[in-house]
Amino acid sequence: MTHSTVNVAASSASYDIHIGEGLLSRAGDMLKGVLPSKKICVVTDEQVAKHYLFDFMHALEFAGFTPYPPVILAAGEETKSFQQLQHIIEKALGYKLDRKSALVALGGGVIGDITGFAASIILRGIHFVQVPTTLLAQVDSSVGGKTAINSPQGKNLVGTFYQPKTVLIDTGTLRTLPERELKSGYAEILKYALIDSPEFFQWLEQNGQKLLAGDPAALTYAIEYSCKAKAAIVKADEKEQKDIRALLNLGHTFGHAFEAIGGYDGRLLHGEAVGIGLKLAFDFSREVGLCPAADCDALGKHLDKTGLMQTPPFKVTANDVLARMKGDKKAKDGKMTFILARGIGKSFVANDVDEAKVTEFLRSRFGG
Ligand code: NAD
Ligand code: GLY
Repeated sequence: MTHSTVNVAASSASYDIHIGEGLLSRAGDMLKGVLPSKKICVVTDEQVAKHYLFDFMHALEFAGFTPYPPVILAAGEETKSFQQLQHIIEKALGYKLDRKSALVALGGGVIGDITGFAASIILRGIHFVQVPTTLLAQVDSSVGGKTAINSPQGKNLVGTFYQPKTVLIDTGTLRTLPERELKSGYAEILKYALIDSPEFFQWLEQNGQKLLAGDPAALTYAIEYSCKAKAAIVKADEKEQKDIRALLNLGHTFGHAFEAIGGYDGRLLHGEAVGIGLKLAFDFSREVGLCPAADCDALGKHLDKTGLMQTPPFKVTANDVLARMKGDKKAKDGKMTFILARGIGKSFVANDVDEAKVTEFLRSRFGG
């Protein structure tokens, strides 16, 4: 069985992302060369466990690992909480994991984010492996070492930068992923095109629907493309200090606000919020004279064609959105930081956006 590899050369660590069909069944052999100890603990959620846990544990045991009983959490965004973090930590300490041991995250971005955070603080850092099973996690959250939980004040406000030892992407796991989750991941793929690649946008215009219908070749191409794009950004600016990694937040300032307003209750998925945010970032860029109307229209058409969500499925007001955005990104002296665009593939970090203009734009969209 062949698979492809993308290297992430972050300043703090270098590691490989392996991408291919059927990697779950080879996970034990692949991890043997990367982890220094056979003591590992898998963290997953109930949904993923139903599909993949038995075979995954078997693959680990077959290769000589002695995995502890897995930690199985509830599926969904609400799991990224202090309470569930404590649960993972107490399990790991109860198992007497040591600094050579590893936590293995088997699941989507929720499991990856909370497990990575736990690994980064247990004994001041134990090893960590990402085995992402959603499209969103395969193209974005498993790569680059951002870990987090949510707090009542907002999303991802508590976390660390902590790189995994390796990432195993089994593209076959996408066969069981609901269509809604596939679309959610697609928004993050589209984000890479909108940041800096008109060519990739063209590819998505031609292949997006095929990808969303589950075409394996289209999915693999987009996953590889996205991992390479993210690896390059992480190499240049691992800890988001140079206005480079911040580009990955395109669409997220609006998106995080909608997610917070929705209360993370499943009505609006993270990727859906990002999709809505991408369009708003482009529309706002047009409103302030930065982005040609033709590029905004092309994006709108693409969202129509792929059936991505374009407005939140609950009522929001401009005031709600503004209040949440301030908590997320902090406004200073009436200026806010946004990722804006001069066109498709021409995004940039704008550190001095006039809050009054944002307010006016949001009022025109959502009222009061
Ligand atoms: P998720 O982890 O909640 O997974 C979505 C749903 O799909 C869950 O119900 C899960 O049980 C189910 N599922 C997972 N794999 C499956 C499979 N193969 N078959 C069937 N069902 C499956 O959500 P997500 O979209 O993967 O991740 C969203 C999270 O990722 C958010 O919390 C977001 O903040 C975070 N994120 C982090 C980064 C980062 O850089 N760390 C980047 C982007 C997003
Ligand atoms: N998803 C944003 C980042 O990894 O920086």
